[in-house]
This record gives sequence, C-alpha cells and structure tokens, in this order.
Amino acid sequence: MYSNELVDTVRALFEGDRGLLAMDESDHTCNKRFAAAGIVQNEENRRAYREMIITTPDLNEFIGGVILYDETIRQATCEGTPFVQVIREAGIIPGIKVDLGEEDLAAHSGEKITAGLDGLRERLTEYSKIGARFAKWRAVIALGEDIPSRGCIGANMQALARYAALCQEVGLVPIIEPEVLMEGTHSLARCREVSEEVLRTLFIELFHQGVTLEGLILKPNMILPGLICPHQESVDEVAEATVRTLRRVVPAAVPAIAFLSGGQSGELAAARLNAMNAKFKGDLPWILTFSFARAIQHPAMEIWNSQKSNIPAAQLAISHRAKCCRDARRGEYSKAMEIESR
Ligand code: 13P
Repeated sequence: MYSNELVDTVRALFEGDRGLLAMDESDHTCNKRFAAAGIVQNEENRRAYREMIITTPDLNEFIGGVILYDETIRQATCEGTPFVQVIREAGIIPGIKVDLGEEDLAAHSGEKITAGLDGLRERLTEYSKIGARFAKWRAVIALGEDIPSRGCIGANMQALARYAALCQEVGLVPIIEPEVLMEGTHSLARCREVSEEVLRTLFIELFHQGVTLEGLILKPNMILPGLICPHQESVDEVAEATVRTLRRVVPAAVPAIAFLSGGQSGELAAARLNAMNAKFKGDLPWILTFSFARAIQHPAMEIWNSQKSNIPAAQLAISHRAKCCRDARRGEYSKAMEIESR
C-alpha cells in the first residue's frame, strides 16, 4: 500500500493548478549563470538572489513547491528567518535536490552517470528533519552519433529507481528527472525514440525497486528537435509528440508529470505546455504541469543584477513567468499575456 503522506504531498503541491519552481542550481551552476549575467559569484549573492525569489509577493498562487539546494535549504533571510520557514509561511512546500551531479560513466565516452547514492539514506533523513517534503534527482542522457548506449540508460534509470525507493522510505516524494538533452542537431523523431526507451526502462526499474507509482512525480523533457536541428516543429506538433510518447510509457497510476524546461525560452516552454493542456486536458490520466528553473527565473536574474533597488522589478518578472506557467497548466495561456506585461 502506498503511504497517504506521499499522496497528500503530491496533491498539495499541485492544488489550484500550480507547478514547481526549480531553484536548486548547485553553487557551480548558479555561479555560471551569475557570471553570464555579470553578477559577482559569492555565497552572499547566491543567498540574496534566493531570498529575492522566495519573498516574491503571492508566489503561492502559481507555485506549490520550490526545489532548493543543500546550501540554500540551510540559509536565512537577511533578518535571520530560515528560508524553510519563509517558504512554509508563504504557503509553499520546500523540497531538495539530492543528487550530487554528473560524472563520466566509465567505458562510455561522452556519457554521464549521476552521483549521490552513497550515504543518501542519511542525507534524506536530515533534509526531512529540516523540513523538506519532496526531493529531486536528475539523470542526463545526451544524444549523439552513437549515444545513448544501453549501458548509460540502464545505469541511470536504475540509480533513479534506487533514489526513489530511498525517498519513499522516509516519506519524501521523489521527483524523478530523466532528462534527454536538447543540445545537438538531432530530430524530434530521434528525441521521441530515445525518450520512449528511457521512460520504458525507467518504469521497469521503478517496478523492480518497489517504488510506489502513486507517490512520485515524473519530471521529463518535452519531445523536441535538437537546439540546432534545421527543422523546428511547431508548438502543436511538439505538444502532440510529447503527449503521444508519454501515453505510451507512463502508467496511469502516476499522479503528475512536471516538465523541465531544458533551455527553452520561458515563452516557448509555456506555449508548448499550454498546447498540451488545451488539446488533451480531460483526456489524460495525469496532471501535466511544470517544474521549470531557467524558464521562470532567467529574466528575473538579469533584472535583479544583485541590486536591492531592483528587487521589486525582478519579483514582478518571477510572478509574471510563474503566472504564465500556471495558466499554461490550465490551457489558458496566450501570447497576449507577454505583450500586456511589457
Ligand atoms: P530547467 O527548467 O532550467 O531545465 O531546470 C530544471 C531542473 O530542475 C534541472 O535539473
């Protein structure tokens, strides 16, 4: 039997058609994004940036859960209130990224395996005590001439399944993120073929590891042509290919699918999610929603630029993107929303 606690957490996260905000960039990734935006890379700036995000007024209208990073879940506002308390008091559920990033997969040139299973049981127990109610683990699958290999898919999907079982053991909902990367020249058809194999392998591993489908969230990529593929399908074609693939491989017992944005612009990610919900909502066994990082935060980071005086404008940008995503979850997003906000 699956635990009621897991099911309750999933329900609360997505109540009111909300989605998730992935603000769990590692120090390294956050610094890389700061560098690209010309922001000084240090702990205080990372703290201030995250404080700006979680204190966005009325964020809970659109966002049901935020995914934090190890550094962030231990931080506090400049007045000393722990972030976890601020998040909870805002009516949002805190979660935590628990993988330790990718490393080279031995004997598989150009492929990665996600690290972090050793000691994970203890880390999950600690995060749960700090206040996390859900967790996230990302596996990356790159596309190329001879990749991905069976070895890479198999090892990563087994790691995801073992992570998910450990989460459920301590009452944390696992977000399971098998990301087929957008980088490359590959076609949409190739992304669909690989994503289908990845997801099929994942659900076999989840079954073998005893993971309860009713108590997890799947965080997949949309089915997209590679970033530099000469042919780019329309929003409707992407929506149809994505839903068709998910229907073939994701069991109906899974309550929610929350997409990653993977480097799509905020507008495209919202338009594609919107097209899926506008066309298929009411005819799908799972919730189709969002768990975006870049597609929600990116404009706000540039506006904020580490200046206190920019906080209100940056928070408006966060709210705007989060509202667009919530409306896309409802199939009610339109391009006009972008124009109105300018
Ligand atoms: P993006 O939406 O920027 O792809 O990030 C999602 C995420 O959580 C990556 O692990």
